[in-house]
Amino acid sequence: MENKTILVSGGAGYIGSHTVVELFKAGYQAIIVDDFRASSERMITGVQDLIQTDVKVYRIDICDKDKLEEIFASNKISGIIHFAALKAVGESVEEPLMYYRNNLHGLINMVELADKYGVNNFVFSSSCTVYGEPKGTRKVHEGTPIGHTPSPYGATKQMGERILQDCVNSSKLNLAVLSLRYFNPVGAHPSGLIGELPNGKPNNLMPFVTQTAAGIREKLTVFGNDYNTADGTCIRDFIHVVDLAQAHVSGLEWLSTVEGSNMEFVNLGTGKGTSVLEIINNFEQLTGVKLNWEFGSRREGDLEEIFAETKKAEELLGWKSKLTFKDAIVDAWNWEQKLMNE
Ligand code: NAD
Ligand code: WQD
Repeated sequence: MENKTILVSGGAGYIGSHTVVELFKAGYQAIIVDDFRASSERMITGVQDLIQTDVKVYRIDICDKDKLEEIFASNKISGIIHFAALKAVGESVEEPLMYYRNNLHGLINMVELADKYGVNNFVFSSSCTVYGEPKGTRKVHEGTPIGHTPSPYGATKQMGERILQDCVNSSKLNLAVLSLRYFNPVGAHPSGLIGELPNGKPNNLMPFVTQTAAGIREKLTVFGNDYNTADGTCIRDFIHVVDLAQAHVSGLEWLSTVEGSNMEFVNLGTGKGTSVLEIINNFEQLTGVKLNWEFGSRREGDLEEIFAETKKAEELLGWKSKLTFKDAIVDAWNWEQKLMNE
């Protein structure tokens, strides 16, 4: 039988856990490698409850190459989805070396071992942050030039893509890579068994909204109301995490058709922009919960508006988002309520 065992680094995290569920649903086996620095064992319980199977979990730091190699040596791995990374933009400005060490060292270990053990299929978690501040367009496609990204976090994604491209170009490695550029992942599994577990005070909008509604945060501040958009607030492409997770399965299917070395970059978004105020208003309407919020000043480094051109995802991967930001609001709130009742 065809070997379909996928090593999922960061598989206990937000996007990783949802992806592991979709992998099992699609007939893959997943091995989770995570040191739980930004996640919790409850995610594993949630995943196992959902798929009704035990998942193999290795609790190691992927920067420890010897320990990582033991996993490659003792399992027959057919592909890698590499989520494990630190992701807080603000923290990366304060702790640049921690970000460069973790995100790049982890990636390099993973690629070296993929090469040594003949694992050719590699999915990399990239981000729309690689576009920096795209000039003259708000809808970005994969050919939009890589821009200046102010944060070390963003730089690790640009450098990660560059490292992978250089490996693909080298005649010494045989590697097929798919770099998935996520826009703004939001929501939770509709079962309420897994979802986002921010470390401390959330930086992202959706967990801040649900935590404010839950009374964990006193007030939500909307960063700026004087942008050149219909309601004055920023516009983003909010993509449901279950849709995003399914795109990884489509990505693996595509990788399995690639012969020799190759690398593609694919945006994962809905193709539609939604404003911060639309998120707040829809949250109140859909949940019936009044949010305590106010306008504040702009947040440094925020783009006015950015959303994805999604044609390439459709053409190359046969993937298209199905859920909406409204589904994500309902599912994120359902998850937050589960956490409140524990
Ligand atoms: P997350 O923090 O929930 O998950 C990352 C997981 O990686 C965590 O479980 C953490 O414990 C693990 N990890 C980190 N460093 C590790 C190491 N050295 N060894 C072992 N495990 C380690 O984050 P997420 O939102 O699920 O993001 C997953 C990936 O997607 C990241 O690479 C992130 O940069 C990227 N991404 C996320 C977003 C977003 O908004 N959530 C957007 C674009 C890209
Ligand atoms: C969305 C909008 C804020 C919080 C970040 C990373 C990006 C990618 C996705 C990883 C913005 C506004 C937010 C709040 C607010 N991650 N906001 N009040 O900044 O688009 O992208 O996550 O790769 O790299 O930069 O997402 O959720 O932080 O903000 O008004 O308390 O919500 O100003 O307009 P962002 P976000």
